This record gives sequence, structure tokens and C-alpha cells, in this order.
Amino acid sequence: MNILVTGGSGFIGTNFIRYLLNTPAFTGQITNVDALTYAGNPENLSDMEKKFPGRYRFIKADICDQAAIEKIFDDHGIDTVCHFAAESHVDRSIVSPDAFIQTNIVGTFTLLETAKKRMDRIVRFHHISTDEVYGSLGDTGYFTEKTPYDPSSPYSASKASSDHLVRAYHRTYGLPVTISNCSNNYGPFQFPEKLIPLMILNALEGKPLPVYGDGGNVRDWLYVIDHCSAVWEILQRGKTGETYNIGGNCEMKNIELVEKICDIIDQKQVPGFNGSRRKLITLVKDRPGHDRRYAIDASKLKAELGWSPITPLDKGLYDTVSWYIDHRDWVNRVITGEYRSWIKRQYG
Ligand code: NAD
Ligand code: TYD
Repeated sequence: MNILVTGGSGFIGTNFIRYLLNTPAFTGQITNVDALTYAGNPENLSDMEKKFPGRYRFIKADICDQAAIEKIFDDHGIDTVCHFAAESHVDRSIVSPDAFIQTNIVGTFTLLETAKKRMDRIVRFHHISTDEVYGSLGDTGYFTEKTPYDPSSPYSASKASSDHLVRAYHRTYGLPVTISNCSNNYGPFQFPEKLIPLMILNALEGKPLPVYGDGGNVRDWLYVIDHCSAVWEILQRGKTGETYNIGGNCEMKNIELVEKICDIIDQKQVPGFNGSRRKLITLVKDRPGHDRRYAIDASKLKAELGWSPITPLDKGLYDTVSWYIDHRDWVNRVITGEYRSWIKRQYG
């Protein structure tokens, strides 16, 4: 495989590239194309460049730039696409949706067109999407691959749009696509605007922990490495034209999750705060259009490809808290924006 990974300098892309290069069954090459928005940090992979010379390369480019993308496909003989690049934060999409429309819809379209023109050598176009395209569940039930799309936010609407385009390129032109719709990920290298890293860092510093609404919204949490293993299975053995749901089998109310984070940090006896960090939890104004509950039925992936999540939440959460404690330097560079200066020096 000669894989183009888009958005490989973001949270999941970084973990995926690290996972793949360390998987013995993968003997191919990876070209990571990333525009390095605020969420992209190529420092995450600088050790991989040294450890796997000739098998991993980084190129700074925007997936909306057709000429640049076409050149990359041809220069590097791309035969497989694994498309992670996106604007990914719901709250940002509510305040300024423009970039979401550009990257998530126009960017995906640009990649599809480029791949379509090279149909003779593209063996797989895998599109990474989200369970948020299905909208909100009530107290019961699960999202299956057949659940109708009903997105609530500009983010999920833009991802839904990109999913439709990917499916259309299969039905109309025969592009060999697969799609995966995944639940909320957590783990190392996640930008500290998302719930789990934000709460970890605020709790470590004794700052308020802002939980939206009544804290009763439910998400189905998946450890990012489990997501990576699912994507790798789909890339190898997923059926062309198919969609696979990926979930953690791990529903939890936001408030309970934040309490767990507080308890882990208390147990680790991190200094700087007296008493239980649960005292920091603050209910704040709800997010507009806030979906109440997500829960994935991932039985298709289990039945067809034998994949299930293997990391229990308590372990994944403990390891994630430990990672943020042990990587203060990474955190400081991200929070202060120092990594942006490094990018400017490296890539202009
Ligand atoms: P992220 O925001 O951490 O990373 C996105 C990456 O895409 C960044 O490196 C950014 O620089 C890059 N990017 C943005 N615009 C670009 C452009 N125009 N051209 C090239 N690169 C660009 O996101 P993430 O959490 O790693 O999510 C990756 C994918 O997984 C997204 O498609 C997202 O919708 C999907 N997803 C995420 C989750 C989750 O919980 N994080 C869950 C389900 C699905
Ligand atoms: P988030 O990490 O933004 O992921 P998504 O919106 O894609 O599910 O949020 C996860 C959940 O946590 C969601 O229900 C919103 C909630 N949340 C808070 O309560 N407080 C926060 O500060 C953030 C960022 C999220």
C-alpha cells in the first residue's frame, strides 16, 4: 500500500500513522498531507520521520487545493487514500461554519475528483466520518449503518454531506470507497478543546470544569488506538461500497465522565489542589442544538471483520490522564501556541 493519509497531523491521524508504522503487517509507505490548521501539529510525528525514513513523509498542503493534491497523488504513486482531514470541533462550527464547509465538503470533493481521475490505480478510498451524522438518540436504541441521516450542527451536516459525496462517487463512477462512522474518541495528542483533554488540563490546574447543560448528555467513548485498529481492518478487508459503524460500547453521561477524570487525578495525588477536584465541576449554558445521546451498534464490523473495541474506559482514561501529565512540554507548546512558531520556522 502506498497510502495518502489526510489530516495526519491531527489527533486521530497522528495516532493512526504511529499505529500503522508500528504494525508489522503494514509494509507500505505513508504520505501525510495536512494544511496544519490550529489542530495540526507535525511535531507529533517528527520521531516517526527519523525512525522510518523512506516510509513516512509529510507534505504541507490544503486538501481543497486541486493542483497540489493531484501532484501529490502522481509524485508519490498513491494507490490508497485514508481521509481524516476535517474541521472537527462542534463548538467552532457553531461560531464560524465557513471552514467546515470548505474543508469537509469541498476538500472531500477535491480528493474524490483527484482519485476518480486515477481510477486505474486507486484500490481504496476510505473516508473517516462520525456518528454525529445520525443526529440524536432518545434514552434507548443504537445507531446502525441503516439509521437515516439527521445532523444537528454545521459540523455534522458538513460530515453528512461529505459522506453522501463519497457514496455517490462509488455508485456513479465505481470509485472503490469505504466509509466508517465512529463515536467520540479520546487518547493521546487530542487538542485540548475537546471534552476529555480540556477537563484533564483544567482539573490539573484547579480551574473550573465547564459541563454543558445538566451534564446528562451521553457519548459512546472509544479509545483512539481501538479506532485505529478498526480503520486498519477496514482498509485491508472492508467491502467496497460499504459503511461500517465503529463504537466503544461505552456509553456515559458527560458529568459521570468528568467525575471519573477528577477521581483519577485525585488518586494520583497530583499536587496543587486541596480536596476533591469534583468541586471544580460547573454546569454552564448548554450548547445550541446539543445532541442528547449517541450510541453505536458496531455489530456489523464484528460480524464481518471480527473487530471489537478492547480498551476498557477505566484503563483508557487512566492512561490518557497519565499521558497529559507526562507530556507537559507538548501541552505547554500547544497551549501557548509555541508549536505554531515552530511550524512557521519549518514550513513558512
Ligand atoms: P483534528 O481536528 O484533531 O485534526 C484534523 C486535522 O486535519 C488537523 O491536522 C488539521 O490541520 C487537518 N486539516 C484541517 N483542514 C485541512 C485542510 N483543508 N487540508 C488539509 N488538512 C486539513 O480532528 P480529529 O479528531 O483527529 O478527527 C479526524 C477525523 O475523524 C475527522 O474527519 C473527524 O470528523 C473524524 N472523527 C473524529 C472523532 C473524534 O472524536 N475526534 C469522532 C468521529 C469521527
Ligand atoms: P466534544 O468533545 O466537543 O465532542 P462532540 O461534541 O463531538 O461530541 O464534546 C463531548 C461532549 O461534552 C458533548 O456532549 C459536549 C460536552 N462538552 C461539555 O460539556 N463541556 C465542554 O467544555 C466541552 C468541550 C464539551
